[in-house]
Amino acid sequence: MNETARQLIDALKDGNHLQEKDFLQIMTHAGAEDAEYAKSCANALRIANFGQAIFLRGLVEFTNYCKNDCLYCGIRRSNKDVVRYRLTKEQILDCLVQGYAAGLRTLVLQGGEDAFFTDERMCDIVSSVKSRRPDIAITLSLGERSKESYRRLKEAGADRYLLRHETATEWHYAKLHPSFQKFSNRMQCLEWLKELGYQVGCGMMIGSPFQTAECLASDLAFIQDFRPQMVGLGPFIPHQATPFAKEPAGSVETTLLMLSLVRLTLPKVLLPSTTALATLHPQGRLRGILAGANVIMPNLSPVDLRDNYTLYDHKANTGLEAVEGVAMLDKELSTIGCHVVVDRGDALY
Ligand code: 5AD
Repeated sequence: MNETARQLIDALKDGNHLQEKDFLQIMTHAGAEDAEYAKSCANALRIANFGQAIFLRGLVEFTNYCKNDCLYCGIRRSNKDVVRYRLTKEQILDCLVQGYAAGLRTLVLQGGEDAFFTDERMCDIVSSVKSRRPDIAITLSLGERSKESYRRLKEAGADRYLLRHETATEWHYAKLHPSFQKFSNRMQCLEWLKELGYQVGCGMMIGSPFQTAECLASDLAFIQDFRPQMVGLGPFIPHQATPFAKEPAGSVETTLLMLSLVRLTLPKVLLPSTTALATLHPQGRLRGILAGANVIMPNLSPVDLRDNYTLYDHKANTGLEAVEGVAMLDKELSTIGCHVVVDRGDALY
């Protein structure tokens, strides 16, 4: 047990603001026992705020066209091996109807940065979803757009927006992205989304190439200051057709520790146990929940297209992470005393 790490975890648990150097102390000093302690405190906080309810989000990967070239991502524009696809509005609405029937009350529309989906087309999709099922929440995950675009999408009915910041360290951002993709613009987008009244999600991969303990400390300090309503984080997993093909995957243990620290920093945050975590460890999804996560995002995309939306290798696609598996998922969750709920699962702040 490390005295310093333990004291800082306690300080966080008691609602104190930590400095970036404190987060760094935790990242560099916490041993296995301290990590277990952080997880148990985070799990207790999850239960105090949400009981044993796990919120579901139906994920629709509606386009894998992307103009960006993120070095880690399987659907980057330089990857010529991908079969590109776009769903039609009708296909998206079919996903909605299916997901709704399975009890999902949040639809996450996620895609690459695809110029085909203009504001006009996106707003039409958003308002059609809302008129078809008014009690559903819409989360968009479409990358960087203009403030005006975000404003129009919000007016059309979008409730939430996910835009992982990927790393809060500018030099690190530059190692993960080509120079035309700017750290400053990504951060600006997050500010705009917040100003416009979206429930906003940021996040990062754990163990991405060049990431240091300092990077993770700066991510935690950023999350503490920015106070997003949602945080998406999972391990980096190499994709064979990217420049990072030979890089090692992120660690499951560090991912779990980071989930716990995010829960301790923002007790009411909506925090998914991600597919990437489930991909690296058979118990990954449950372990994520026991480390403080309270959201699961089943895949609602048409089954025959799922293999084309491959951001990283060996992506879990076995049933539990998919909508066909909601009942199975509920059963799996019952082994740790949790259950899925039919609820929009809105932010508490
Ligand atoms: N490993 C893990 N996560 C990845 N993402 C993209 N590529 C990978 C990868 N190789 C994550 C990014 C992005 C989100 C949609 O998926 O953080 O924001």
